[in-house]
Amino acid sequence: MRIGIFGAGYVGLVTGTCFADLGHDVVVRDIIPARIAALRAGKVPIFEPGLTELIAANRDRLTFTTEIAEVVAGADVLFVCVGTPPTYSGDADLSAVWTVVDELPRDGRRVVLVMKSTVPVGTGAKVRSALDERGLTNVGYVSNPEFLAEGSALKDFRNPDRIVIGSYEAADAEVVERLHAGITAPIVRADVASAEMVKLASNAALAVRISFINEIANVCELTGADVLTVAEGVGLDHRLGKHFLRAGIGFGGSCFPKDISALKQLAGNVGYHFQLLAAVIEVNELQKRRVIGKLQKHLGTVRDRRIALLGLAFKPNTDDMREAPSLVLGARLLAEGAEVRAWDPVADASRLLHGAVFCDSVLEAVDGADAAVIVTEWEELRGMLTPELHARMRTPLIIDGRNLLDPAAARAAGFTYEGIGRA
Ligand code: UDX
Repeated sequence: MRIGIFGAGYVGLVTGTCFADLGHDVVVRDIIPARIAALRAGKVPIFEPGLTELIAANRDRLTFTTEIAEVVAGADVLFVCVGTPPTYSGDADLSAVWTVVDELPRDGRRVVLVMKSTVPVGTGAKVRSALDERGLTNVGYVSNPEFLAEGSALKDFRNPDRIVIGSYEAADAEVVERLHAGITAPIVRADVASAEMVKLASNAALAVRISFINEIANVCELTGADVLTVAEGVGLDHRLGKHFLRAGIGFGGSCFPKDISALKQLAGNVGYHFQLLAAVIEVNELQKRRVIGKLQKHLGTVRDRRIALLGLAFKPNTDDMREAPSLVLGARLLAEGAEVRAWDPVADASRLLHGAVFCDSVLEAVDGADAAVIVTEWEELRGMLTPELHARMRTPLIIDGRNLLDPAAARAAGFTYEGIGRA
């Protein structure tokens, strides 16, 4: 089939490239000329393992353009993969989605408009009405939310847990189902509102688990239990499962914080106070700041202390800094008068964390430091317990915000070590 993609961001590029890899002809459109020019030159503007290679391998079936006419021409299916960032009120900003709907030309041919972007429940109904008002009854509408996690997006696309297809017309859902031929996964056929809610509810459920295990970790610290052992024991219950029970310094990223706030706001807009999500958000905010208390416990004060932040991206294998806990932690430390030295192998936070010193290596970051905080569990940090690193620090204190290191090994190497929720 011929597929048009609106948005050459994270979701649009991964979706477009993977559909091209399945054998479809794909045109990806973005409004930023520099982004399209870079993609045409083989330069991929995001960091996602394997994506550059997969784009190169599918060059013949992938076109990048800024022109609306080019993306719509001859397309059987049009995917909306534009950003839906939060507004000041916590609602989702749907202006990019509306621009796509408004720009669709009237050519009378049957085409299916598929919403991949995460949108509030009820958006599909509004888009359907807007299309009908414009006389675009030839345009079908399907909600097909994405469940791609950064760092494993290609794998997630090829081996999804499920494919959710919400539609008004069964024929439109069938078109989208056929597009996925070659991928083995349960298909959930739904009405549009339920499909929209599956996405929001899935992210909310995962965030609940993270805030839950973080609170368990905090109680473990006060009671002498070890959260890793607790999570293992809890996770072996088949009704619960082992995933998303890693305690740490809170969740971040482009999806969880935004989607949870959007779901809470959506509920509020229709008169329901989503108390559980309010707590999940509060726990997450407090969790990002708990490291400060741990540093104060060991150092007395963080004022004029040199603190190394190791890892800045919201999680490993991405350069994404959106809602990264490192930003809150770094800003708090700077506000307390600490000297912050920061390192990340790929993420650039120089314009987000004013006042921090950015270093090219872990050793440079810990030079003369009173403490090193593991903020993102990059693989390269696993081997950091070296005599050389120990010697470079003023105080050999490690606060492991991701429980990456073995506490016994850290202490054996001469470090004062504290993780999250560990005895
Ligand atoms: C997430 C969803 O997984 C994906 O399905 C959705 O489409 C987009 O949002 P992503 O934001 O890429 O994907 O990252 P994910 O791996 O889910 O991690 C989200 C955050 O939770 C990260 O900050 C991570 O560090 C944190 N996390 C995750 C924990 O703190 N503990 C865990 O056990 C798991």
